[in-house]
Amino acid sequence: MSVAYFNGKFVGSNDPVVPIDERGHQFGDGVYEVIRIYNNKPFMLEEHLDRLYMSAEAIALAFDQSRESFKEIIFQLIERSGLDNLDVYLQITRGLAPRNHLFPDAPVSISMTAKPFRSIPAEFRERGAKAILHPDERWMNCYIKSLNLLPNLLAKQEAHKAGCLEAILHRDGKLTEGTSSNVFVIKDSRIRTTPLSRHILAGITRMAVQRIAQAAAIPFEERHVAIEELYEADEVFITSTTSEVMPIVQVGEKLIGDGQPGQLTRLLQRHFQALTTAVTADA
Ligand code: PDD
Repeated sequence: MSVAYFNGKFVGSNDPVVPIDERGHQFGDGVYEVIRIYNNKPFMLEEHLDRLYMSAEAIALAFDQSRESFKEIIFQLIERSGLDNLDVYLQITRGLAPRNHLFPDAPVSISMTAKPFRSIPAEFRERGAKAILHPDERWMNCYIKSLNLLPNLLAKQEAHKAGCLEAILHRDGKLTEGTSSNVFVIKDSRIRTTPLSRHILAGITRMAVQRIAQAAAIPFEERHVAIEELYEADEVFITSTTSEVMPIVQVGEKLIGDGQPGQLTRLLQRHFQALTTAVTADA
């Protein structure tokens, strides 16, 4: 069952608990994380919390809640949901105050939901998904996991209208990332992905894939990928907490490779699945 939490209370996931003057609602003034729970155990929780604290600091969002208190709420939500496999969404905002652009002197609001895995049809993971290319119209601080997602939503909707799963964003002729994922190309058995900078989010799944590649001695290069390199790639895939390792077999009208998920992408999918199983297995 889906369950939720808002400022100290466990509530139903559809309960109307957020006041109208909440700054997440008024301004998108906050940061968030999406954490996947496999077999009752959060996957790469410390890394998600590290990023949450980094994002909060980057927008000068001050709070006293300890890491342990976030973990405590997450574990309670998992238990209350009665689910083994779920997604926890966690959001911290600058709190409740009459609408005014200046920061209020108010405690932050913390909310979370726990819901069954958002299901991306298995067929995409098996046969590959399609993407469009779209200009990256976002701000200069995309390393912050901010609630402000309007350019991401607009580009994702364009992808959807074109019958595609994701929009791959580009800036100055080079790929940045997807609207809610990181992007990788494979050429001559080398994985390439955009280096970490202010222009992309440091994906936790990206980090997992980098570790997998290193352990399997697959060359992994963090360097800019030009649009032409995307079209000429042997394989393309995206990663995110909810899509894991997702093959992209067509971008716009252009088939990638032979239009099937490639061998290295398949290998990374298998390793990623093995990793989520191993680190969340019962002790
Ligand atoms: N999105 N880039 C962007 C812009 C993202 O929003 C996400 C994640 C990622 C991948 O990050 P990770 O591997 O840590 O999930 C990259 C989440 C899932 C979301 O907004 O739903």
